[in-house]
Amino acid sequence: MLLKNLIAFLILFSFLLSEFLFPVFAQENYDAKVEELLSKMTLDEKIGQLVQKIGVNQENEKLIRSGKVGSLLIGTPGPEVANRIQKIAVEETRLGIPLLFANDVIHGYHTIFPIPLAEASSWNPELVKRASEIAAFEAASEGTNWTFAPMVDIARDPRWGRIMEGFGEDPFLGSVMASARVKGFQGDDLRDKTKIAACSKHYVAYGGAEGGRDYNTVDISERTLREVYLQPFHAAVDNGVASIMSAFNDLNGIPASGNYFTLTEVLRNEWKWDGVVISDWNSIGELVKHRFAKNKEDAAFIGFTAGVDIDMAGDTIDGNIYSPHLKNLVEQGLISEDKINESVRRVLKMKYKLGLFEDPYVDIEFFKNNPGKIGGKSYKDSIALQLAKESIVLLKNENNLLPVKKNIKSIALIGPLANNSEDVLGMWSAAGKPDDVVTVLQGIKNLLGNNTEINYLKGCNINDNDSSDFNASIEIAKQFDLVILVVGEERKMSGEAASKTDLNIPGVQEELVKRIYETGVLTVVVLMNGRPLTINWISENIPAIVEAWFLGDQTGNAIAQVLFGDYNPSGKSPVTFPRSTGQIPIYYYQKSTGRPIIEEDKYTSKYLDSPNTPLYPFGYGLSYTTFNYNNIRMDKNSIDKNDFVTVSVDVVNTGKFEGEEVVQLYIQDEFASITRPVKELKGFQKINLKTGDTKIVSFKITSDMLSFLDKDMNPVVEPGKFNIMIGGNSVDLITTSFEVTE
Ligand code: NOJ
Repeated sequence: MLLKNLIAFLILFSFLLSEFLFPVFAQENYDAKVEELLSKMTLDEKIGQLVQKIGVNQENEKLIRSGKVGSLLIGTPGPEVANRIQKIAVEETRLGIPLLFANDVIHGYHTIFPIPLAEASSWNPELVKRASEIAAFEAASEGTNWTFAPMVDIARDPRWGRIMEGFGEDPFLGSVMASARVKGFQGDDLRDKTKIAACSKHYVAYGGAEGGRDYNTVDISERTLREVYLQPFHAAVDNGVASIMSAFNDLNGIPASGNYFTLTEVLRNEWKWDGVVISDWNSIGELVKHRFAKNKEDAAFIGFTAGVDIDMAGDTIDGNIYSPHLKNLVEQGLISEDKINESVRRVLKMKYKLGLFEDPYVDIEFFKNNPGKIGGKSYKDSIALQLAKESIVLLKNENNLLPVKKNIKSIALIGPLANNSEDVLGMWSAAGKPDDVVTVLQGIKNLLGNNTEINYLKGCNINDNDSSDFNASIEIAKQFDLVILVVGEERKMSGEAASKTDLNIPGVQEELVKRIYETGVLTVVVLMNGRPLTINWISENIPAIVEAWFLGDQTGNAIAQVLFGDYNPSGKSPVTFPRSTGQIPIYYYQKSTGRPIIEEDKYTSKYLDSPNTPLYPFGYGLSYTTFNYNNIRMDKNSIDKNDFVTVSVDVVNTGKFEGEEVVQLYIQDEFASITRPVKELKGFQKINLKTGDTKIVSFKITSDMLSFLDKDMNPVVEPGKFNIMIGGNSVDLITTSFEVTE
């Protein structure tokens, strides 16, 4: 007995040691090592660590050799090249400090997953985390040890092309996804050679660009900044994100890459975060163009003293920024070497944390011979497929047109995206290849085999005025029982520098849809795009609409499985669909105003020519089954503000299919000393229900979910009534309430 207890104690002790104490020791070790290394470095070598160069070329190799580069935006040249470059840093520089190899691994490296906006539609953080694990594995196997992801910018304006790179309009959903992706990329220990450092970007409020124009001005209150835009960054920090990228935009008069308040007061002083801040591409140099810095030296001074550690691409457009200006600034006594040391410490620590000093090279054999689960093709494909399926949002399904019966004799598949393997990868597809993509045509063939005749026609291009194939398409359509039309955007229409004023489906595609509809043949529209489009006519007339975003490699398999009922769609839009661009910005998290809309009262907050309501609300998405929500109840009617309360609801699958549902919890503070949004998403659970089954779904509501920032920006829970709303989207909700007492 005694021996048993002793063994149990020893096991527990060693667990505690490894779980809690070892990281502390490891941390201290790094600190000592960092200090030792720092003490040997010249000022030039220190500044070198704060410089990031772009690409593999002879000039950069020379600079690396002279110790003037700490990191390289490497692209995808493969592990041999990465190792060759690393060898220069490790063996040919005076101190042998390894390089960080950065890359934009945004939604996959070789295996391409759905674009992040689509991933967010899955409301499945566990699956999103797995996709990031795979992306990290593949990127690491080729030398990348640092990804510039996740992009966590809240975006409430679909004119902004970069909405595709983030998780949509909501700070809560954005935070959950940010956390999942950071964990997926980084794991528990960055020394694991299959993990890479993450970078949350673009700090901060880049998504709030005026008019949706990329790189543009953002002028928002500190409240909106804190309650909305900073939230996902804070979540990333809480999950140990290794780095953060400062943004291009002007923020309330102070450009984000020269903003002491956000970069130092919030990040360092409030959040106590000690990771690395890197600028965006020449965003320090651009302080001159903002007319915020007099010249490049001034820009270096402002960016550095505001809190940017590494200057990305500071020499490629506008001349040198950190190098040589930081040195001049130190020599003039304007920046202290101690301050330089602080930044260098952070960079060196990141390199230690990644294990680069012990093991700087890609272990090519390891990745070849030990793919394990994460590196195995069938596992990767299965995660890519599952995520693609869960990312699809069913927008409309009149008379249960979908799912289509698999024994259907013939289908006409029409549209410029129906057999497209390039656009469906979405922007930022790293080393992804069109050859690895399953197109919709291929996916349907994979699923239906030879029993169904599939007649494919492109119909038109995505973005020109050529309607010469319309007649042929119409003739084909007439001969079939069902037409599946796949239309949408080119991938380059979203992403960086891809703002738009017109969100209608481009080119003559909508015209094609109309002409085919006029034949009277049953029509399903599958949309592919990097942002919600304005699709009023389609929404009114076409009986079934599937929003597929850009789904990556498994596009065709995922869409086919949804269309033919092998998978019951469960995606929910992470962004509001406007009726017209004139409604933008439009998002669910709005204020009541003093004149909330009343249809028959002209003098309320509304448009003369359009409803206020969106075409499809945030959190919306249909299933082939139906879910009924009832019996919402609290376990207590009132609580003290430090207490918690539990709300429960019965969710019943009342339809004919087994299915998944995203149960969403929204809270409204009925009355407060600062006006609060009409509702805020505060929780969700994705559940699976067999037909006829009921599940009780409960949410614990804690005080942090009830709090907001008071007039002095301090979190407060005010006594009074809170309305609790639960449902399958942000509009169709059932409500209860409780009181918080003094
Ligand atoms: C500029 C983009 O804004 C940023 O997101 C990206 O990481 C860098 N370029 C590097 O490619």
